[in-house]
This record gives sequence, C-alpha cells and structure tokens, in this order.
Amino acid sequence: MSPHLAQRLAGLFPEHLASLIRRTQTALEAGGFGALLLGSGHSVDHFRDDHGPPFKSHATFNAWVPVTGAPGSYVHFRPGDRPMLVFPIADDFWHRPAAPPSDYWTPHFDIRIVNSPEAARAALPRSLADTAFIGAPFAALASWGVAAVNPAALLLQLDHDRAVKSDYELECLREANRIAARGHRAAERCFRAGGAELDIELAFLGACRQREQELPYNPIIAVNEAGSTLHYQLLTREPAHRSRSLLIDAGASFEAYGSDITRTYSAADTDFATLIGAMDRLQLALCAALKPGLDWRDFHLDAVARIAALLTDSGIVKGTPEHCVQSGLAKVFFPHGIGHLLGLQVHDAGGTLGSPSGDQIERPADHPLLRLTRRLEGGFVVTVEPGIYFIDPLLERTRGTPQGQYIDWHRVEQLRPFGGIRIEDDLAITKSGSENLTRPAFAALDPG
Ligand code: GLY
Ligand code: MN
Ligand code: MN
Repeated sequence: MSPHLAQRLAGLFPEHLASLIRRTQTALEAGGFGALLLGSGHSVDHFRDDHGPPFKSHATFNAWVPVTGAPGSYVHFRPGDRPMLVFPIADDFWHRPAAPPSDYWTPHFDIRIVNSPEAARAALPRSLADTAFIGAPFAALASWGVAAVNPAALLLQLDHDRAVKSDYELECLREANRIAARGHRAAERCFRAGGAELDIELAFLGACRQREQELPYNPIIAVNEAGSTLHYQLLTREPAHRSRSLLIDAGASFEAYGSDITRTYSAADTDFATLIGAMDRLQLALCAALKPGLDWRDFHLDAVARIAALLTDSGIVKGTPEHCVQSGLAKVFFPHGIGHLLGLQVHDAGGTLGSPSGDQIERPADHPLLRLTRRLEGGFVVTVEPGIYFIDPLLERTRGTPQGQYIDWHRVEQLRPFGGIRIEDDLAITKSGSENLTRPAFAALDPG
C-alpha cells in the first residue's frame, strides 16, 4: 500500500469505526445483548486429509478489522469499552507465524496476542453470559458460555445496516477497482496475444499481484463459446485454435473488500464487436439512472426492457421490444439479475432486507434470481451488469416453441461462436446520483 493511501485510510478509519460502533450498539440494545463477539473463522481440513481449502475470514468480523489471514481471531465489543482484537500467533515451526498487526487501524483496538485457542478464550472477558457470538461455530464454543450463537435478528440488523458504506469502505472499494483494472488490462493483452484461458488468468493475477485464494471470487475467464456459461469455471490450458472473443469477470481484493468487474472483447472488428459497443452504451445509460430512492426491482425491469430493445434492434429477436419482454424471450438472452450489493462479500449481505428488523422485499414474480430488491440509499455500492448470451440449453428449449419463431436463428448461429457479452462496473450511490468506481480506474491506466 502506498504511504499516501495508508495516510488516507488512517484519516477515514476512525469515523468508519465510530459508525460501526453506533450501529452495533443499537443492534445489541434491540436484541437485549450486552456485548458482541465476532469470530474470524477456523481452518478446516479436506475429508480424511491433513490440509484444507484456503481460509476465508468471515465478513462480519472483517467489517471491524482488515485481518484476512488469521483463523481463530476474535473481535470483542462492549459498548463504552475499546474494542478488543484477540490475535493468535501460534508456536509453530511448520508455518511462519503472523507478525503482530501494526497498521493504520491498530491504535483503535486493544490487541491481545495469544498462542493457543485456550489462551484466546482466556484473553476474553471471563463471563460472556450477555454476549452474542457471530461467526462459524466451533466445538469449544459450547463451553464458552455465550448468550447466543448467530442470533437471527441481530444478524439481520447488522446485514441490513452494512449496505450503507462508510467513506473508509468506499476508499477500499475504489482501491480494489484500481488493482483489478490493472489485472483486466494485462488479461486483455494476453487474450489479444492468443493466450489460453489459464494464461489469461495468470496474467490477471500477476498484474493484480494477488493469489487466486485472495481474490473475492474465482475469475470467470471465457474464450469464445465459453462466454455463454454464466459462471464458467474451466480454464483451458491450450490456446483456442482461433480466439474470437473474451468475457472476463474478475475482481481483486483490498482490505477484505472486493471489486467485481466484467469486460468483453472481440479479437476482430466484427459484428460481435459492434454488439459489445452497443452493450457498453446501454450499460452506461443504466449507470446514469442510479440515484437514491430508485427501486432496484424497477431498475432491473428497465434494464430488461433496454436489453430487449438491443435484441430487436440488432436483429437477434424479431418483433417489438415489448413482445420480447412479455414473451420471456429477453430472459433467454439475459437470464440473470442486473446487479447486486458489493462490499465485504461479492454478493453482499442484506440485498432483500426491507428494514433493520429483517422484513423481506419480495422479488418480482418473473425474476426470482434478483439479489437486490431494496431502494437505493446514499452509500450503497452496487454492480450494474447487463448482458446478452447465446446459451445453448436456453436456446434449444425455446427453439420448438411458438416464441422460437421470433428468434432469428441465422443471426444466432453467426453470434453463438462468440459466447456472450457482459459489461459490469461497480458504483457507489451518492447524495444525488452515483460514482462509478470502475471506469476511472481503467481510465487512469490510459496513457496521456
Ligand atoms: N462475478 C459474479 C457476479 O458478477 O455476480
Ligand atoms: Mn461479476
Ligand atoms: Mn456481479
């Protein structure tokens, strides 16, 4: 981290912590708890093996401290007291022990270094009888005497409140975008040089200087037809005979916050490239509509209508855009939601919570996959990710139906080898509109 960024974070962290303390205090009072204990989580081994998948710390813990690689850590908070971080540094000659944390955020915590799980418990207050625990449960927790483990109402309230980001969190998300933009540029170069999907991923990781396990999610790197698989996860080791297109959905992490960015490229100046340009303009028009008060369900339906217009304008679907929406054809080409909350988790918590008490805001009847149904508020961070895909199973299911006659199958055959298009940016809702966190990160890499 540059000294300049560290200084900015040092300036922003106190207000972030203060707002977290205010929210937590309200939530604890509502739940009748005196204190909160957050666990980072524990490492687990694979079945019948002596090592396991990479450790991922729990988001609610990371809202307090950007400590991502320390299983068996705890944050304890009692209103009125300085929050405590219990941080394990084991006597271990197999692994290099972590260094005691020392950073812009550490002066705000009472940090206790411990060398065993027993010492972690001993470092915490003797009685946890009025304390709610949030985190992945573990065997010894039963003897810790906490008042409740993951009480639902408390979780819902904290999840609900987490949607509004502090200035510190926004800065972390901006940086996660800056890091990922470097990765995306390197990935594009690798694609244009004819790299295989694995080479493209390695180029992304190298430019981000992050290990795959550190990323907010496994990148989706799809050359040619593979772009039609929404969460494509295979990485071909051999370059394609002819690389026509790349859909890359990849984000980077910073201080436990993640970016979530998709770009689509065409190798040549084809019809597909024209469609990418049109999708890029459509995406920007959608971004321009973001503002506080906007109901995300309406926004999704607006996006579907615009995508239907693109499908009919470009001759993929015949008939009117209205028919394309009403008949369900638009969903054949765009079967996912227009976006979601983003933060400590790539699909951040609380997207359908209507109030701190946990009421659910229903998804529109025809759009059961929508991950966000709330009205936007200043401080929300969302993705906007329209797309058009040529998905074999959805197309084949439609071919024999009356609606299939409205698809220009010749046009579909021309475009199918390119897979699909998605353009995805991350945006912070401001007082009157939005701030795109992604586009300036790319623009800053452009010469001159
Ligand atoms: N990368 C997963 C998503 O865009 O939601
Ligand atoms: Mn994505
Ligand atoms: Mn996304």
